[in-house]
Amino acid sequence: MDNILKQAIKDEFLSRREAESADFKKKLTVGFPVYDEQEVLAALDCLLNLRLSQGPIVKDFEKEAALYMDVNHAVAMNSGTSANMLALASLINLGMLKAGDEVIVPAATFSSVVSPIYQLGLVPVYVDVSEDDWFLDIDQMVDACSEKTKVIMPVYNLGFPGRIEKIIDFAAERDIRVLEDCCEAHGGERQGKKLGAYGDVSALSFFVAHNITTGEGGMVFSSDPAIDNSLRELREFGRVFDSENRFFSDEVLSDYDVRYVSKSVGYNVRMTDVAAAMGRVQLSKLDELNVKRRNVVSKITDVVLKHEWLSTLHVREGDKSAHYGVPILIDESAPFSRKDICVHLENQGIETRAMMMGCLPDQPAFRELDHRVHGDLSLSRILRDRAFFVGCHPALEDVHISNFHEALDSFYSRY
Ligand SMILES: Cc1ncc(COP(=O)(O)O)c(C=O)c1O
Repeated sequence: MDNILKQAIKDEFLSRREAESADFKKKLTVGFPVYDEQEVLAALDCLLNLRLSQGPIVKDFEKEAALYMDVNHAVAMNSGTSANMLALASLINLGMLKAGDEVIVPAATFSSVVSPIYQLGLVPVYVDVSEDDWFLDIDQMVDACSEKTKVIMPVYNLGFPGRIEKIIDFAAERDIRVLEDCCEAHGGERQGKKLGAYGDVSALSFFVAHNITTGEGGMVFSSDPAIDNSLRELREFGRVFDSENRFFSDEVLSDYDVRYVSKSVGYNVRMTDVAAAMGRVQLSKLDELNVKRRNVVSKITDVVLKHEWLSTLHVREGDKSAHYGVPILIDESAPFSRKDICVHLENQGIETRAMMMGCLPDQPAFRELDHRVHGDLSLSRILRDRAFFVGCHPALEDVHISNFHEALDSFYSRY
């Protein structure tokens, strides 16, 4: 693209952001897509080249993402929900999992962790999270395991690196597969290894509020070529993937165009080249964006801890978080409810969110469905009732942090 055009697009992008900046400074939003003219130009280049659907740019994005994660394979798709769905469906496709098998999940997290489990006829086993990191409680997970348990699905809630190595060791002894949901944890690390590089398979989301974005998007990682092939097949109508031969023959079909051979019952959850072009630029900025996030988190944490009855989580020494939000827990002795504090903060321009779906088996959609609950899920229910989070995206400035501080102080002046 010619340099004059590139400069014009950059100028236009900057001038639109400038026009919004006064409003932006008034609000501490939970998510914000941090990109610049580089992503716009990359996406535009696809449009100018008539590259609308999945093509070579998706392949490049997959190669670069796999390299970043230090795994062999990455398969891009249209969302993190699809990523969880296809990760499980690929295990079913390969005979590693079947309807009725159990999948251990944390009770406190987002619905997209369990919806695919129910949709595929699997049975979620809800286990409580641990106090330190809101990650699967390892001891309870071990106790919850039964003969029917075939998959453990840990989730890095709000980007906190949990003790995944314990799960991997346990699962290896029992021949159980591990599916890591990293949809809130892009680029986080546990003991020097990327979250998402531990399990048999892992899922990432590029939704607009996440650490890097393609608007909507997701990706599944694995180092097993059979899982990779199965994912590619399922992603596109269940048809034979990248066959060396143009034509397929068996005892029924002869010399049939491979593009119209259904090998398995598939989906269409492809990512477009336009989204992937944006994703490639975003990926190249991920580490830098996470450093900025951690800086914002440390300032917000300082403010939170200055206020009685509020606490937050702390990342273990040596680990790297990929904070999606800053978790805040209200003590049971507090003279106010979550609704009281959140409504006040919202009125002062501080967006808040409940801790996702709280305790999933308590949600209307899941109450009556076939599942197993281990223990009393006491912490998940505490999070359901008393936890919330605020944003920590890299575009936040000191003015947002001081607005947050003032908003909390003015709320506390009532008590
Ligand atoms: C833990 C978790 N898993 C899965 C998803 C689904 O991702 P997506 O919104 O891309 O479908 C989300 C959503 O943000 C999530 O928080």
